[in-house]
Amino acid sequence: MAPRWAGRCDACGAWNSIVEEPEEAAPPRAIGTAAGGRRIAPVGLDEIGPDAPRRTTGIAELDRVLGGGLVAGSAVLVGGDPGIGKSTLLLQAVCALGQEAPCLYISGEEAVEQIRMRAARLGLSGSAVELAAAADVRDILATLDRADAPAVVVIDSIQTMFVDTLDSAPGTVAQVRASAGELVRLAKRRGLALLLVGHVTKDGMIAGPRVLEHMVDVVLYFEGDRGHHFRILRAVKNRYGATDEIGVFEMTGQGLRQVPNPSELFLANRSAGGRGEDVAGSVVFAGLEGTRPVLVEVQALVGATAPGSPRRAVVGWDANRLAMVLAVLVARGGIAVGGSDIFLNVAGGLKVSEPAADLAAAAAIVSSKLGVPVAHDAVVFGEIGLSGEVRPVPQTELRLKEAAKLGFARAIAPRRKRDGAAGLNPALQISDIASVEDLLSLLESSDVRPRASHRPGRNTAALP
Ligand SMILES: Nc1ncnc2c1ncn2[C@@H]1O[C@H](COP(=O)(O)OP(=O)(O)O)[C@@H](O)[C@H]1O
Ligand SMILES: [Mg+2]
Repeated sequence: MAPRWAGRCDACGAWNSIVEEPEEAAPPRAIGTAAGGRRIAPVGLDEIGPDAPRRTTGIAELDRVLGGGLVAGSAVLVGGDPGIGKSTLLLQAVCALGQEAPCLYISGEEAVEQIRMRAARLGLSGSAVELAAAADVRDILATLDRADAPAVVVIDSIQTMFVDTLDSAPGTVAQVRASAGELVRLAKRRGLALLLVGHVTKDGMIAGPRVLEHMVDVVLYFEGDRGHHFRILRAVKNRYGATDEIGVFEMTGQGLRQVPNPSELFLANRSAGGRGEDVAGSVVFAGLEGTRPVLVEVQALVGATAPGSPRRAVVGWDANRLAMVLAVLVARGGIAVGGSDIFLNVAGGLKVSEPAADLAAAAAIVSSKLGVPVAHDAVVFGEIGLSGEVRPVPQTELRLKEAAKLGFARAIAPRRKRDGAAGLNPALQISDIASVEDLLSLLESSDVRPRASHRPGRNTAALP
């Protein structure tokens, strides 16, 4: 409780984190008695009918993240930076869905004519979808709270919606919460699938109300780097499915194109002009996103050791894990990177969160530090422990299969138990790694180094 306007929280020091809440008219009283309550009638586990029916959206990458399609009576929040492609994705989805079920796209940001023009640009003219421009939740309830409500409704965006019982402006926490509450209850009552667009602020929150995430059944984030065409749809909450799946898209002039094989996309622009050229500090990580193997390039640049505190910058990976890998390399591998500037980048805009990327990051750092390229036809994965041991990671076989499919010939991978080695992919030559010392001796030996004619580091001139 603050008696006056405050810009900064006294407790944690964060700016603009305080929101105004109107006072309740009457103080809450304890219920005290059961009088007036209705008895709840519990049902047995087996008395409940089959799973809620799912409606596939016709966009496989979206269905995968939803856990198999849209569930009737569910609310899905699609969050993301402005301009990332949320409206585009949902317009494409309802136009595809419109073939089978009545769909309504309500925009509080754009006029109907603007949406129509967007649909035309996306090649979706003639789709069976209804459009409306509205922002007053009372109007939306009046339109939709009836038996013949459409099966799928998009609200773009929740920050533009308002309920007329509150004085605050649209986009404020109170309005967003009240509007979303009304719309989610409507979705449950009428069994319609509700898709809410939510803009994310610079600090990564869906405009203030984290509370929105609790109100909906599914929370999807649409991520991407403005400098790249890739867009990644990630489930962070899903009451109807797994949350570790991603959908990969490419933004084009004709809208979002699905990318069924992300590895090809992420490796398409490998440094120094693609395959066949080895560059120190570049390693291909065989990662896993949900159930899907994804190969990405991990790049490291180790600068000179300078006095003062070294600079460390990470894009696409966890800075704390980088610090840990560096500490292990220094302490267990004797690699003198403690005082060096270090930059680590996961190419293509993907954010990697797996511990399995440890070994790839370590290999990239050591490769850059020593000026020794890792062979371009090798993939790397494995988790590194504090004592320098390299541990097995899940789904080795899946990672190797993807690597073989994309033409890789070797893998630098954790040592496996004897019984597991038999079934390993014969298409790949596997270098077993049990510790960071193994990694160092491997990189220092000729085994994974490219042909002797190659110059380490930047390929400036060819050797005579
Ligand atoms: N006329 C256009 N031609 C090509 N691409 C466009 C055009 N208009 C918008 N885009 C693309 O669509 C993106 C905007 O997507 P949009 O779905 O409106 O984002 P959001 O709803 O997340 O704010 C832009 O960043 C741009 O890449
Ligand atoms: Mg939009």
